[in-house]
Amino acid sequence: MDKKIQVFFTNLPSSVLACRVDPVPERNLIDWSSLEGVRPAALFCPRSIADVSAIMTAANLAGVAVVPQGGLTGLCGGARPQASGIALSLEKMVGIEEIDTDSATMTVLAGTPLETIQHAAADADMFFALDLGARGSCVIGGNVGTNAGGNRVIRYGMTRDLVLGIEAVLPDGTIINALSKLIKNNTGYDVRQLFIGSEGTLGIVTRVVLRLHPAPTCTHAAVFGLSDYESVLKFLAGARRQLGPMLSAFEAMWSDYLEIALAVPGVRNPLQSRHAFTVLVESQGTDEKIDGERFMGFCETMFETGVIEDAAVSQSLADVQSFWGLRDACSEFKTTVGPHFAFDIGLPTGKIDEFARLCRTRIADALPGGKSVYYGHIADGNLHLLGWQPGGTTDEITGHLLDEAVYETVRDFGGSVSAEHGIGLTKKRYLAHSRSPEELELMKTIKRAIDPNNILNPGKVIDL
Ligand code: FAD
Ligand code: LAC
Ligand code: ZN
Repeated sequence: MDKKIQVFFTNLPSSVLACRVDPVPERNLIDWSSLEGVRPAALFCPRSIADVSAIMTAANLAGVAVVPQGGLTGLCGGARPQASGIALSLEKMVGIEEIDTDSATMTVLAGTPLETIQHAAADADMFFALDLGARGSCVIGGNVGTNAGGNRVIRYGMTRDLVLGIEAVLPDGTIINALSKLIKNNTGYDVRQLFIGSEGTLGIVTRVVLRLHPAPTCTHAAVFGLSDYESVLKFLAGARRQLGPMLSAFEAMWSDYLEIALAVPGVRNPLQSRHAFTVLVESQGTDEKIDGERFMGFCETMFETGVIEDAAVSQSLADVQSFWGLRDACSEFKTTVGPHFAFDIGLPTGKIDEFARLCRTRIADALPGGKSVYYGHIADGNLHLLGWQPGGTTDEITGHLLDEAVYETVRDFGGSVSAEHGIGLTKKRYLAHSRSPEELELMKTIKRAIDPNNILNPGKVIDL
């Protein structure tokens, strides 16, 4: 056993030793990224904040790396362990501690699955707005770590906008209690934001106060077919104008995405014919009659003005769910498409199709027969793409060639190399495409100040 690990075990209170899980299960070796798994020297699944604090104190004294793990659905390798360090999974710290309907907040432990939180909010006649395809497996600590975006950012913002308070453990074991329920709290630096989106490099989130919204009482959705991107942009403007604050999702799928989505068992296209663009629009309201009529009015106007070619409008909640099946099909691509690389790009909405066209060509040039498909939350300026070589693997060389093709194009367009998935390991090399040298230096200063021994998720996001 590594000398540092031995010292770590010696420093650990015996009560915390019971949190060790040995042997380490295969699932804890890697997240959803295409990287190889790594077996950590040990896995700990603490049951309390005191356990987390004791583990961090011992690790800091011994200089042992600690990698926080949530649901392991991250797509950038942020939760990948180190062979000479320990993995710390929050999977045993699960539970909803309080729902405060007056403050419209929910206090939860960090290992609670997102879907459990959504259901608990609904049971209390409230709504937790964060939603993403990995909802059944990802957990709120991971969502906070990555500042997850997802399907409803257009209306409710990202995770950052849905977190009012945080409890976290610093690399030296100090517990930071910032469990505020307040929306307005201008009392100096906003400490909670340090832990949101920093991918477990500045602290381990143990508890979160989430912001709830009133439960929508009616949801309408429709799938639209459009002939070109110019129409998609006019359509988005129309949806914003006519649906106003009710507009809760606007998801675009290029025709190449549809081809692979429809190959997923159980996924169906509600439209009869194929279109250059398929767009899923969702609207959440509070009055079935008024809001239903408004949604139908919007669809009719779009038809009359010739912006859309075809539409299928939901008649029931089952239809809404089935329409989302088309968009959520990407959860199955690991199985149906085979080895591929996933990208998450931020771009000005108006430029997204121009980017997609150029990127498709560059990927085909970079890899013989290279394929790519495009979809995303385009109203948020967020495009996803998958790239792969038919019959190929997720080997390093293929990954590098794809990265170069995609991120050079991102730089040419002044975009962001990560809109919502984070940096982790896979995008670290390209962080400077989207951040200035001064910003990078400030990030390093913050990391050094909070984690002087560089033991918390070292080597993720940025190298010191
Ligand atoms: P993990 O993968 O376990 O960890 C993610 C990062 O957070 C790591 O750096 C880890 O070290 C850190 N971390 C974990 N727990 C803690 C903690 N308690 N304290 C501090 N740091 C911690 N993402 C989106 O943003 N939008 C989407 O629409 C979306 N859709 C997806 C669909 C599918 C099918 C899949 C597989 C993934 C999708 N993702 C999406 C990516 C992923 O689900 C999110 O990044 C999610 O927030 C990760 O949560 P997790 O619990 O799985 O975290
Ligand atoms: C999605 C993930 C990939 O939006 O972010 O499907
Ligand atoms: Zn996404």
